[in-house]
Order: sequence, then structure tokens, then C-alpha cells
Amino acid sequence: MTAIRSTLDTAGEAYQANREGLLGKLDDLQAELDKALAGGGEKYVARHRKRGKMIARERIEMLVDEDSAFLELCPLAAYGSDFTVGASVVTGIGVVEGVECMIVANDPTVKGGTSNPWTLRKILRTNDIALANRLPVISLVESGGADLPTQKEVFIPGGRMFRDLTRLSAAGIPTVAIVFGNSTAGGAYVPGMSDHVVMIENASKVFLGGPPLVKMATGEDSDDESLGGAQLHARQSGLADYYAADEQDALRIGRRIVARLNWRKSGPSPVAEIREPRYDADELLGIVPGDLKIPFDPREVIARIVDDSDFDEFKPEYGNSLCTGWARIHGYPVGILANAQGVLFSQESQKAAQFIQLANRSDTPLLFLHNTTGYMVGKEYERGGIIKHGSMMINAVSNSKVPHLSVLMGASYGAGHYGMCGRAYDPRFLFAWPSAKSAVMGAAQLAGVISIVSRAATEARGGVVDEAADAAMRQMIEAQIEAESVPAFLSGMLYDDGVIDPRDTRTILGLSLSAIHSAPVEGTSNFGVFRM
Ligand code: COA
Repeated sequence: MTAIRSTLDTAGEAYQANREGLLGKLDDLQAELDKALAGGGEKYVARHRKRGKMIARERIEMLVDEDSAFLELCPLAAYGSDFTVGASVVTGIGVVEGVECMIVANDPTVKGGTSNPWTLRKILRTNDIALANRLPVISLVESGGADLPTQKEVFIPGGRMFRDLTRLSAAGIPTVAIVFGNSTAGGAYVPGMSDHVVMIENASKVFLGGPPLVKMATGEDSDDESLGGAQLHARQSGLADYYAADEQDALRIGRRIVARLNWRKSGPSPVAEIREPRYDADELLGIVPGDLKIPFDPREVIARIVDDSDFDEFKPEYGNSLCTGWARIHGYPVGILANAQGVLFSQESQKAAQFIQLANRSDTPLLFLHNTTGYMVGKEYERGGIIKHGSMMINAVSNSKVPHLSVLMGASYGAGHYGMCGRAYDPRFLFAWPSAKSAVMGAAQLAGVISIVSRAATEARGGVVDEAADAAMRQMIEAQIEAESVPAFLSGMLYDDGVIDPRDTRTILGLSLSAIHSAPVEGTSNFGVFRM
């Protein structure tokens, strides 16, 4: 075994400054997470409770096994938009009767649990995760369907939500719907497309069109209960398979359904003996500098997240701006690629491509720890083939079949984000630390590029550059790009699965790896043509 020896100076000024900076960012993050926790706010939560109902998170808590972990996903969805942070749905992986399941719970306190464009993106993401990792899906339904004012963004792409449910079923992944209240219009297809359906006496209301719409369409008089109540669906339409007395009973039945699935994981089990890292996770707060131009050693991070801090480094003397090696997290083997000096050169790219091929040969999942400003630019590097070498790395990442996990610790810029398995490269899970930033390039560089291009255009026209206007433009663009590069903004756009406290990284990666191993873990030797 090869234990990493930490040289982190926890008494030093830099460590303290980094730590304070990160703690400040964590406070800001908590303020946003609190908004998601508050759902529709006091008034709507009180009204909901007065109706004798549990809120979405209480339903989840009662559904999952006692004291088990719930890995919430995308809690900041809709941040920066006009919609409530969280996007009126709570999603995550929870353990029900010992089975890891994807749980999707509408939050009826936020605009009647209706689906806005962010809700849709969040639900589609959870369906993708369920399919890739072979996780049964449990929908806790109470939603007025599409958010009508934004229907143009929800209606047409939203059809995919229902298509996904039946495709999951076709792939042999069980789907369960427990209907707590309204499940109107398109929402009616959630129980319609699920394998198992539970409805609750006097509470579930499932119809394609509510009484006012029916009156408009056919002139027929009806009420909620006679049109789509639980009794009707349990006794007449046959849409409900189980008829529950109340919410608690419905959740109990939901648990029994999962218990009877005889669900087994298809991936290999972790090793039995799991050792904690030799260094304190709390120290992860002091590693990443506030100024991302200052490099840090990712081995200090690896030492605090892998089992026993045990890490066998691959090619340590070659391409050392990228650190690669083998370790275990919560007993699961992983190959780690971590940026060490920020920039990726040709050697690093070739090393990464080789390492990814090796991981595929040994069916080992890969973990990408991001802190990169991208591939090196300049005459020397273009001549040296940086494009073909960077492409080689991106080719390997694109065609690799072992599961990938990405954590954005610091910078994640340019094509470096792609080579390190950014969002578009479908890592099974992608999380960001509050210290991370991601964009096509740094804000100052981007503003500078626009300035150079517009200066050249002005001069080509024979004009004179207005220096004051140029400086103001640069400042404005820099501020805009800076605001759009921060994790909360990107998380709001669903470009990650959550912004996490660095101290929770090991736990979250362990939960992710456990979920990943619900599906088979197999590599490939089938890559695209590598340019040599
Ligand atoms: N789109 C946008 N906003 C909606 C909405 C929808 N489909 N349905 C409800 N809302 C809004 C309401 O306007 C209200 O907003 P406000 O608090 O700012 O006034 C808020 O959500 C809560 O609605 P309310 O009717 O007070 O809540 P409720 O819990 O008593 O009932 C529903 C919730 C969903 C049962 C009810 O609002 C309803 O039937 N909505 C229409 C459902 C429908 O026909 N959908 C078709 C979609 S294709």
C-alpha cells in the first residue's frame, strides 16, 4: 500500500485564508438551500398542513429506511430564475427496504407542485440517472401539471417525462407512483406509465381534465371525486393497484411494493474492510485558494477522500500537471484523474487517454477532480500537436464505458472541462464545491478577447477606439461572466447534480458509487481512432 503523506500546513496563513473564504461561500450556499427547504413558504406550507397533509420532505423521510442516507440531487435547480429555488420538486436517491431508489417528490406548496421549465429539466435528469444506474423510481405525486404561463417551454419537451417512465419499465427498472393529491392532465400519465400505483382515499385525484375543463369540453357536470378519486380508480377504472387509507398507509404500501421487487444489484460489491482516510475531512476546507490562479496539490484532497489515504500513482514523473492513480472509496475501486497545475499539455492528455483505457480494461470507475484552466495555447504547443493530444483525451473520455464521477473543486475552464468529463460527457454524477468556477474561459480573459476583437474591427474600419467605453464594456462583461461562472448559477441551470460541502465529498462519492453499482460496471476496448 502507498499512503499519501500530507504536507498541508494547517497552521499557515494561506490555509486559514482559504478556509475562511470557503466557510463564507458555504454560508451563502446554505442561504440558498434554505430557500429550497422552505418550499412555497410559510403561508402555503401552513395551508397544506391544515389539509392534513405531509410536506414533500416528510413523505420522503417516512418512505426511506430509518436512519438511512438520502442523497438529494439538484436542490438549487431554478436558482437565478423567476421560480422558487428547488423547482417545486425534491429528488434524490434513498434506500427503501434496503433498495437504493430514485425518489421524485412534487412539492405541492410551490404553485400547486406544477412543473416549470426547471422542474422538467430536474425530472429528466433524475430519469437519466435512474436509467444509467438501474435504480427503481418512486414518484410521490401531487402536481397540477404544467406551469401554464411557461407552457411553451414545458409542454412539448415535457412529453419525455412520461416516455422515460415507460422506457425505464421496458428496461426492467421498476417504477412506482404514490398519488397524494392532484395528478392532473399530463401528470395523470405518471401513474398511467408506472408499473405500480397507490392511491389514497379522499385525497388522490387523477384525471386528464378537471371538472371545469370537462364542463367546457362536453358540458358534463362532475366533481373531483367522481371524475378521478382514488375509489373510482381502485374500483372502476383500474388505474390504482392499491387503495390506501391515508398518507402513512400509502407510504407503507409503497415500501411493501419495493420489498416484493426482489431487486438485486448487478455491479460488484465493495471490499469488506473499509478504512477511513488518515487525514481529517475538515482540512478539505483549507486547500483551494480563493484566487484560482494559485495552484494546489490535489493529492491533499485525495488523501482526505480515499480509503486509508492509499493511492498508487500512475506515471508520477510524466505529464505531472495531471495526477492519475488508483484508490478505493468506501471499498469501491476508482481510478482518479486530478488536475495538478491547472493547464493540460500534450503529455498530460496522452497520459489521461492511456489511464482511461487501462481503467476500462479493469472495469474500474473513474473520478475526475477538476482544477483546470484548459489545454495549453501558443505556437510551441500548437506545433507540438496540442489539438490532437487534447482530442485524444476527449475521445477516451467520450467512449469510455466505465462509470465516471466528476467533482469541480476549482477552475473548470474551456475544453479542459470536456477532457475532465464535464456535464456534456455524461458523468454518472457531477458535483461542485462552492470554490469552483466554470466557463469557456476566465472572466478577465474573456472580456479581454472581446476587447481585442472589437478594437481590431474598429481600427479596420478606420475608426478610433473609445478607451473609456472599452474599459466600461470590459468591466461589464467581466462582471457578467463572473456571475455566470459560479456554482450556484450553474447548479440552477442543472449543469451539476449539486453544490456540496467539501467535507461531505467522501460520503457523497461513496453514496454515488453505491448507486452506480446497482448497474453492471463494465469497461470497453472500443475507442474512436486516436490521432498519434
Ligand atoms: N400553472 C401555474 N400556476 C398554477 C397552476 C398551473 N397549472 N395551478 C396552480 N397554480 C398556482 C395558483 O395560481 C396559485 O398561485 P398563487 O398562490 O400565486 O395565487 C398557486 O399555484 C396555488 O394554487 P391553488 O389553486 O391555490 O392551490 P391548491 O393546492 O388549492 O390547488 C391545484 C392546486 C393544482 C389542484 C389547482 O391549482 C389546480 O387545479 N390547478 C390547475 C391544474 C390544471 O388544470 N393543470 C393543467 C396543466 S396542463
